[in-house]
Amino acid sequence: MEPGRVPSGDTGSASTVLVTAANGRTGRAVVSALARAGAVVCALVRREDQREALLALGAQGCVIGDLADRVSLDRAMRGCAKVVHIGPPLHPDEVAMTANVLAAAQAAGVGHVIYYSVMHPQRRALRHHRLKLEAEERVIESGTPYTILEPIRYMQHLEPIWTEVVGDGIHAMPFDVDARFSLVDLTDLAGATAKVTLCDDHLYATYELAGPESLSSREMAAILAEELDRPVEARAIPIDALERSAKGRGLPADRIEQMLAMNRHYDRHGFLGNARVLTGLLGRQPNDFRSYVRRLKAAAHAGQRGTA
Ligand SMILES: NC(=O)c1ccc[n+]([C@@H]2O[C@H](COP(=O)([O-])OP(=O)(O)OC[C@H]3O[C@@H](n4cnc5c(N)ncnc54)[C@H](OP(=O)(O)O)[C@@H]3O)[C@@H](O)[C@H]2O)c1
Repeated sequence: MEPGRVPSGDTGSASTVLVTAANGRTGRAVVSALARAGAVVCALVRREDQREALLALGAQGCVIGDLADRVSLDRAMRGCAKVVHIGPPLHPDEVAMTANVLAAAQAAGVGHVIYYSVMHPQRRALRHHRLKLEAEERVIESGTPYTILEPIRYMQHLEPIWTEVVGDGIHAMPFDVDARFSLVDLTDLAGATAKVTLCDDHLYATYELAGPESLSSREMAAILAEELDRPVEARAIPIDALERSAKGRGLPADRIEQMLAMNRHYDRHGFLGNARVLTGLLGRQPNDFRSYVRRLKAAAHAGQRGTA
C-alpha cells in the first residue's frame, strides 16, 4: 500500500476527483455533492481520525496530506483526473499552497483543476482577497486546464449563532446591521462545484457565485422573526468584543487581524453579487435566505447539526 493512502476503496482511478481541505465546512459539502453526482471522490485530509466522516459523506477513499507539503500532494494526486482545490480560510500561505497544488497536478498529469477562490478577489485592501487574486493568476498561467469559482459569503454563518437567535431573539453579526450581502447557500455552491467538475464545458471559465437577494442583517432578523414566530433583533457585534472572543477561542493573531479587517470592510462596502451565473449552473433559482432558515429550523428540530 502507498504510504499516506488510506486503504478504503477505489481511489486513484482515471476518473477520481481529489478534494483538498476536505474535512472543512466547504470540503465536506463538496465531497458530498460530488459523491451524490456519481463521482469517485478521494478526500485529502490532514489526520487519520478524519477519515470515517469523509467516507460517511460518500468519499470512496481518503489520503493524508498537507497543502504545505508537496510530497504528500504528489502522492495524493497520483492517478487522479481532477482536483478541486479548496484552501483554508484567511491563510497567509494561500499562494504557496496553490502553487504546490498546481505543480503536483502538472506532475501527475491531472486534466482539470477547479480552484475555489472568493468573490471579488480584486478587493485588494483585504489580504485574503489579494492572495486569492494572486493564486488565480497562478492557476491561469499554470498550463493545466482550470475552472475558477468565486463564491460570496455563505448563509451557513447563521448556524453557529442559531441557539442565540432562537433562545434570545438576537441576530448578532460582526458588521453594521445595515450593510448588505448577497448571501449564498453552501449547498448550492457545492452542487455547482460538482457540476463544473464533472463537465468539461466549464474549462477556462471564472464564475462569480452569489445568492439571489441583497439583505442587511436587519432584514435577515425580520425573516428570522417571521419564521420563528418570535421577535428577533439585529445587533452589530463591536469589533473589540469580536477580537476578545476570537482570542478567547485561541485563534492565531494573524487570522484575527484578517477577520477584523474583513468585517470593517463589510461595514463600509457590504458584499453584493449577482445570482445569474449560479442560476445557470444549477438550472434553477439559487436558494434564498428564508428557505435556508426553514431548512436549518427543520434540522434543529430533528436534532441534527451541521447538516443544513
Ligand atoms: N465561509 C465563507 O463564507 C466563504 C466564502 C467564500 C469563499 N470561502 C473560501 O472557502 C474556503 C474554505 O473555507 P471553510 O469555511 O470551508 O474553511 P474551514 O471550515 O475552516 O475548513 C478549512 C479546512 O482546511 C484544512 N486545512 C488547514 N490547513 C491545511 C493544510 N495546511 N493542508 C491541508 N488542509 C488544511 C483544515 O483541516 P483540519 O480539518 O484538519 O483543521 C480544514 O478542514 C476558504 O478558502 C475560504 O476563503 C469561504
